[in-house]
Amino acid sequence: MSIGAFSGSPSELVGRQIAGYRIEREIGRGGMAVVFRARDLRLDRTVALKLLAPELARNDTFRKRFSHESRAAAAIDHPHIVPVFEADEADGVLYIAMRYVAGSDLRHLLDRQGPLPLPTALRIAAQVASALDAAHEHGLVHRDVKPGNILVAPGTDSDHPEHVYLTDFGLTKKSLSLTGFTSVGQFVGTLDYVAPEQISGRPVDGRCDVYGFACVVYETLAGHPPFRREEDMALLWAHQQDEPPPLTGARPDLPTAVDAVFTRALAKAPDARHPTCLAFVTALRTAARAEPGTAHPATRPVRRPDAPRPPPDWARPVFRTPQP
Ligand SMILES: Nc1ncnc2c1ncn2[C@@H]1O[C@H](COP(=O)(O)OP(=O)(O)O)[C@@H](O)[C@H]1O
Ligand SMILES: [Mg+2]
Repeated sequence: MSIGAFSGSPSELVGRQIAGYRIEREIGRGGMAVVFRARDLRLDRTVALKLLAPELARNDTFRKRFSHESRAAAAIDHPHIVPVFEADEADGVLYIAMRYVAGSDLRHLLDRQGPLPLPTALRIAAQVASALDAAHEHGLVHRDVKPGNILVAPGTDSDHPEHVYLTDFGLTKKSLSLTGFTSVGQFVGTLDYVAPEQISGRPVDGRCDVYGFACVVYETLAGHPPFRREEDMALLWAHQQDEPPPLTGARPDLPTAVDAVFTRALAKAPDARHPTCLAFVTALRTAARAEPGTAHPATRPVRRPDAPRPPPDWARPVFRTPQP
């Protein structure tokens, strides 16, 4: 396959073969890649084949990180990280073959369903958190935690209704330059989940993922990310300077104790955030046990006689959330 073929319409690639994979159909596309369902002809299995935009193969910084981080990601064997089978280059096109995850991604889920019930949001969050923390323990920073990189497959049983996978480690173009703007001044990807230190080009570590992850969890509960601005520059400014609006403004059914948890996870200074993603989810789960409208967690989930009737998801088994 040539770069020319890639820069044409991806639908022209259906039926074509690249590096031992036969392309079957397009699954989706982001700012810098197209993902196809493909057949691994050597092992006769279905895979997701991600073809990166040719301009990325020409960027030396990106190529180095692509090869380093694909290797690192492939080395992590974790139930909530999409297994990478192969990451290489064919005819000037970087590609990644990985497990095909049948289901949806969190972006589509939120677009379709809006804010999720608390138990569902916590179940999904706990799985993503365990994946991120495992990556951080391997010295890997994701850098692009967002709903589109969280794949949601059907789970095993009613106690585990969904199985969540995190994908796309280190593949963001954002951290390549100060603000992630391309040479033609277009931003690749979304600015909704980008940490202040990423914006200002300071060194990042796992805590930049704590920030991005907290933005995602906020959105799963509120139906929108913490900061919404008309202009990209205003959004970048908000991440760096503005206080996130309290989640309970959008979700008055939740105890106000959750607001403090988001204030900490979304702190501008990495040091002020929860040290790990699971620490954030645990704090959120504890805060969510508090009475709606109170700032302190109750020891038992009892309802004051004068308390408003709990919304339906308050009654659901929040506290049986499986611990990965
Ligand atoms: N391993 C996979 N299995 C199934 N679908 C996938 C897989 N990886 C990515 N996808 C789908 O392809 C879409 C496009 O992916 P990508 O190019 O990374 O863009 P983005 O992450 O910005 O949505 C994703 O939103 C997801 O729905
Ligand atoms: Mg992606």
